[in-house]
Amino acid sequence: MDAPDDTEAIRQRLAYLREQLDLHSYRYHVLDDPLIADGEYDQLFRELLALEERYPALRTGDSISQRVGGAPLAAFQSVEHRLPMLSLENAFTEQELFDFEERLRRFLNLDTPIAYMAEPKLDGLAVELVYHEGQLTVGSTRGNGQVGEEITVNLKTIPTIPLRLTVFGDQPLPALLEVRGEVFLSMRGFAALNEQRARDNEPLFANPRNAAAGALRQLDSRITAQRPLDFFVYGVADPAHLAATSHSAVLQKLRQLGFKINPHARQCASMVAVVEHFHELGRLRSTLPYDIDGVVVKVDDLDLQRRLGNKARSPRWAMAAKFAASQATTVLRDVEFGVGRTGAVTPVALLDPVVVGGVTVSRATLHNEDEVRRKDLHLGDTVLVQRAGDVIPEVVKAISENRPANARPVRMPVSCPECDSPLSRAAGEAVTRCLNPHCPAQRLQGLIHFVGKAGMDIDGLGKASLEQLAAAGLVNDIPDLYTLTAEQLQPLEGWGAKSAENAIAAISKSKQTTLAKFLAAIGIRHVGEVTAALLEQRFGTLAALQAASEADFLEVEGIGEQVADSLFRFFTDDTVRAVLTRLVELGLAFTPPRQVAAGLPLAGRVFLFTGTLSACSRSEAKAMVKTRGGQVASAMNKKVTDLVCGEAAGSKLKQAEELGIRILGEAEFQELVQGTSSGG
Ligand code: IVH
Repeated sequence: MDAPDDTEAIRQRLAYLREQLDLHSYRYHVLDDPLIADGEYDQLFRELLALEERYPALRTGDSISQRVGGAPLAAFQSVEHRLPMLSLENAFTEQELFDFEERLRRFLNLDTPIAYMAEPKLDGLAVELVYHEGQLTVGSTRGNGQVGEEITVNLKTIPTIPLRLTVFGDQPLPALLEVRGEVFLSMRGFAALNEQRARDNEPLFANPRNAAAGALRQLDSRITAQRPLDFFVYGVADPAHLAATSHSAVLQKLRQLGFKINPHARQCASMVAVVEHFHELGRLRSTLPYDIDGVVVKVDDLDLQRRLGNKARSPRWAMAAKFAASQATTVLRDVEFGVGRTGAVTPVALLDPVVVGGVTVSRATLHNEDEVRRKDLHLGDTVLVQRAGDVIPEVVKAISENRPANARPVRMPVSCPECDSPLSRAAGEAVTRCLNPHCPAQRLQGLIHFVGKAGMDIDGLGKASLEQLAAAGLVNDIPDLYTLTAEQLQPLEGWGAKSAENAIAAISKSKQTTLAKFLAAIGIRHVGEVTAALLEQRFGTLAALQAASEADFLEVEGIGEQVADSLFRFFTDDTVRAVLTRLVELGLAFTPPRQVAAGLPLAGRVFLFTGTLSACSRSEAKAMVKTRGGQVASAMNKKVTDLVCGEAAGSKLKQAEELGIRILGEAEFQELVQGTSSGG
């Protein structure tokens, strides 16, 4: 165990780090006005993680380190909202807004003007955050309005949700505060997530809302932490907790307590002004970085709100004015079943072309078998198609009243549309797959991925040319690419001497690559660019990857069981081994990654740290080792070559002595790294 005497110093350092990180996170995420560089923030954050890892007893529930997620839950608990979370009545026309105002006047017996707050209606998920004495204790979904699901650990991963309230203005901290707002995913976050899923051959999310819902309902909060979720606050359960007299003041106070409020929320002196703002937001809508589906209009004066009270399901003092949706009807002519790189079969609707939200749509994804069944689609059906913002078009539903007599229901095929092998659907999975590893469609998709931007990025070869080459029998698998000649290409339609030579030159050039790029390109399930880079850093060579056990993969920070399993299976597969051997024979070669370059002074050495360093932080020391080609271990294992002991070294020192591992004091370590450079 570590000596207890420096615990107080550590405690103070932790408190300092948490305070700094809270402040800088607020400046960055909420105010969009950072005070320090990203790298400096990362350094503080890494120091905090390292300290908390070393002193788990000093970990606190409000530490910003909670943002990375925690151990998976078995199930969500139910939680009752102290005050119900109501929904809103909708208005679809301007007239309905003026009718709303008329009802307010009658109810209140009022003929003076009513002031409103008009806020974008975010299309995400409503959540409640409960703060006791300033600490976030419970976060939950809306559920049925009375009872929701407890998703505290997931909500804690969202950078714009304060883990503790901070007084940035002149605000006293309320003893209890129940905050309500919307969790959402930006358009960009959504697009990036779907691109990643496409690369990993996972089913795509239909829209940002579904993607955000999926992320929030993860039992493994570490997955939630990887989704770029965001949060706008729009109110509190009980305004009395904030001593404000208007809703606009409530929002201002929430902002001072550390929450992000939507910049397009406007105080409006009259319903005419509300309608103007509604139209303004309608125009802005397509330029906003997130999806909104209307404007929420709220009576601003809290005393009037109190007098108005609630109806059964919605407050009398608020109304949602909805934008007209970008929808259109058309006819479903046929359904095509595409086979992806990992054999996933995706149904795609072929539609009579129709303009939706300014774009002509003739194809729309139907996602998977469950979606097809749920929508009960028949060929010849008139279907409702929609596009939300930049999102890929989707079929909302069939208008079954218009169904032609004897229309045939859409069914998933039982065998692969490309190779005729039987399809299979694993229990608990939505994806139907072709399991034939030699399926030509999978191979072709794999080739397309290999040469594409997320892969080897080979110029002059795209989807169409690969289809052509496969059809001509010239390229069936990845090694075939590297035996291709200009003479074979030239006679094919659309090719000339020049383009053929260029393509062959680009293919040849791609032989000299990096391991990371190749790993992302070759098409290992669940392995994209990020994991590929981790693997390169840790293993360095193809041979090391082929020799690795599942446990070795699991040791890599950022790789979980599913990925480790997929990697182990991949590298021990005989066909894969044959392909890799052939590629190396054909001249595929890897530029060594910088960190493990053999020439670097600490290459081949594995460092473990114990005790507190005084000259620099532990994170800085680790970085120094890595930039000099060394590796850093997180626990004692047989690969460790050097133990660096700071102040109050713990039990690792004894272990190291027993194992005969080289032991360095802090001064010796500093000498070692100062005397060696990071080289380039
Ligand atoms: S206020 C009692 N403000 O709309 C009033 N809701 O249909 C409660 N929503 O479940 C809601 N943006 O998820 C309010 N600025 C906003 C909102 C908003 C989105 C959602 C919220 C709620 C639903 C009501």
